[in-house]
Amino acid sequence: MSSSQYAEPFRIKAVEMLKKTTPEHRREALEKVAWNVFQLKAEDVYIDCLTDSGTSAMSNRQWAALMMGDESYAGCESFYRFEAAIKDLTGFPFVVPTHQGRAADNLLGRMFYKGHNYKFVVTNMAFDSTRGAAMNFDMWAEDLLDDPGYDSQSYHPFKGNMSPQKLEDFIKKHGREAIGMVIMTITCNTNGGQPVSMANIKECGEIAHKYGLPYFADAARCFENCYFIKEREEGYKDKDIRDIAREMFSYFDGATMSIKKDGLVNMGGYFCCRDEELYHRAANDNMAYEGFQTYGGLAGRDLEAIAIGMYEGSDYEYLKGRIGQVEYLGKRLDEFGVPFVRPTGGNGVYVDARLFYKDIPPEKFPGLCLAADAYLVSGIRIAELGASAFAVKQPDGTIKLPEIDYVRIAISRRVYTNSHMDIIAETLGELYKSGSPNFKGMDKKDWGRADSHFNSHYIPEFK
Ligand code: F0G
Repeated sequence: MSSSQYAEPFRIKAVEMLKKTTPEHRREALEKVAWNVFQLKAEDVYIDCLTDSGTSAMSNRQWAALMMGDESYAGCESFYRFEAAIKDLTGFPFVVPTHQGRAADNLLGRMFYKGHNYKFVVTNMAFDSTRGAAMNFDMWAEDLLDDPGYDSQSYHPFKGNMSPQKLEDFIKKHGREAIGMVIMTITCNTNGGQPVSMANIKECGEIAHKYGLPYFADAARCFENCYFIKEREEGYKDKDIRDIAREMFSYFDGATMSIKKDGLVNMGGYFCCRDEELYHRAANDNMAYEGFQTYGGLAGRDLEAIAIGMYEGSDYEYLKGRIGQVEYLGKRLDEFGVPFVRPTGGNGVYVDARLFYKDIPPEKFPGLCLAADAYLVSGIRIAELGASAFAVKQPDGTIKLPEIDYVRIAISRRVYTNSHMDIIAETLGELYKSGSPNFKGMDKKDWGRADSHFNSHYIPEFK
């Protein structure tokens, strides 16, 4: 394995200086925000791995294209370039822009859930905004991930797969009339940025359609998913990423995408579909929330950056470097024995919090302790996507903890170098070896909806 395997496939034209802080400053900063790293000021963070959403570095071509933004209210040229790129890469004939992914999720909800008495949206594993959109319509997003996806330590090439058996059983048990639609999240963010195989996408679509259920893709990280299909699924080795994407989308009735991920831009989303009638309804409905159908909450310059970013994000050499960097971090963490979801996924390394801090019980949030420790020790910001983020308060007042308890080290695209990966690995390696230097556990002050982890207050129990 030569070191060129993990070389960044770009050179750097503009730089942004990082800011180092003292341990005392970080402790004060974290205390001030009730130990919730989401509430920190970004200027107090050294390496920010909170999310890979909207944090990409744009290319010289994208920056140049911003000047070409046509800011006309209706029918701007930039829209047609945006639309052509998305039609080309997805194969969907109809595209509605939105300002980000969740605006498209909500559009989906207003079109498909509103006015029905559905109880469920069925997913491989819902991201919190998908769950939030379902909850807005008094529905629940049911995760039907296949079993290997729940086991962080065993190897499986497609841990994002939905279980076809669970899907069919669920539909039979509850009836088609209880279900709004089937959504496949590609890649599956919540359990490790894990990919879904082409075979699984096809099979679950056939089941959904057999029962007359709409089948949509949550396509935020669709090109990363295609890369894994090319690398791991039989029959795709010699295919172009973009052809793989076209085939993948061909199994769906439509898609929503947070373009802030694989589109390599700081803002943007879309809703796509195959049905013309549906498109007209979507464009009309979107008017009240996002704006006219040729801008949908985006400036002309954003549309230009997306039109280019969608192609750069589906470029094989780019994806190889991008996913290679995540793999490199995994390899470095492995040297310290750190337990994380294997194999590493597309958008980051997900540490298994319960295995990392074994002496902190799950109800005392080992993942929150790890996120706070990483910040206090090195100024690195990582996000708990586990017990605090996904626990649910049940009607009888008891708290149901989720099956998985991960802390995500999300890697922004084209932003950090492998030296930064080394700093992250060394920090976590040390914490894993010595245990939490600060905490016996955390308590949560308030239990609200599924997304309350953004602003929860925590109460640490110090060592
Ligand atoms: N779907 C998935 C799979 C996501 O990961 C996200 C956002 C969304 C939809 C919503 O998109 O943010 O543009 O409204 N994920 C971010 C994250 C926030 O950190 O993983 P959005």
